Amino acid sequence: MLTLTSIDALRQWRTRQTGSVGFVPTMGALHDGHASLIRRSAVENTATLVSIFVNPAQFGPNEDLDKYPRTLEADLRLCAAAGAQAVFTPDTAMMYPPGFATWVTVEGLTDKLCGRSRPGHFRGVTTVVTKLFNLAQPARAYFGQKDAQQALVLTRMARELNMPLEVITCPTVREPDGLAMSSRNRYLDADQRRRALALVRSLRAIEAAFAAGTRDVPTLRQTGLDVLTPEVDRVDYLEILDAGDLSEIAVVQGKALCAVAAFVGTTRLIDNVLLGA
Ligand code: PAJ
Repeated sequence: MLTLTSIDALRQWRTRQTGSVGFVPTMGALHDGHASLIRRSAVENTATLVSIFVNPAQFGPNEDLDKYPRTLEADLRLCAAAGAQAVFTPDTAMMYPPGFATWVTVEGLTDKLCGRSRPGHFRGVTTVVTKLFNLAQPARAYFGQKDAQQALVLTRMARELNMPLEVITCPTVREPDGLAMSSRNRYLDADQRRRALALVRSLRAIEAAFAAGTRDVPTLRQTGLDVLTPEVDRVDYLEILDAGDLSEIAVVQGKALCAVAAFVGTTRLIDNVLLGA
């Protein structure tokens, strides 16, 4: 496996590829959720490229950019074991040279959920992913359902800007007890790790009520909040929205996205499930 540390090295590697390139963008601190995307890409493409770049443009001023976990050696081993041919590890100055002033934005979808509590976050994501797509020129790019809104935003961006690639959304990978795998889980101490389970438990409670026939959104939402609120330090949101365009719904009829974000200590965690899928 090759480590490509500059844009030039990546362009040269890309020129040498004759088959399809599958691409998995990441911010590192890799875990089995990331590995699942790399393995899927390795099955579906001739070569798989992973990027590891902690993208400053998607972090707010009071967020965890500086303390975001950086574990490059272990990340490279995970990429190789999962079947990647190359890993792109640019630095910030390469991606955002002084005077950088061009941004890609998806409107509407990015005002909801995480976009409301993290202003500018999705603009940072869509801009860096556009840059990475232009460099990697993949046939397929792989994202996790764990970040459901991100996957929707990037699918919409690729379609509306006629990007010549397929955006593929892969299932959320969980710990044995149900906690969604996340690079941020390593911030949790033992008590917080236990309380973090309230996110998935609240979603499971909503799924159970839905399976038992409840379709009224305020009732479903309250069912989740009853489980979540006592355990976490702050609920950012727990919402049930149309799964296609994130519009508000009063009753679940088609496919709905049930998404939660909450703080455990100072760590912000997110999770989601689809209802009626
Ligand atoms: P990061 O949080 O590192 O996630 C990289 C990819 O892994 C994303 O598509 C994310 O949805 C997926 N992923 C994370 N945890 C997962 C899990 N438990 N199961 C399945 N997939 C999971 O998301 C980003 O980085 C950045 O915003 C990025 C797209 C790289 C742009 O900077």
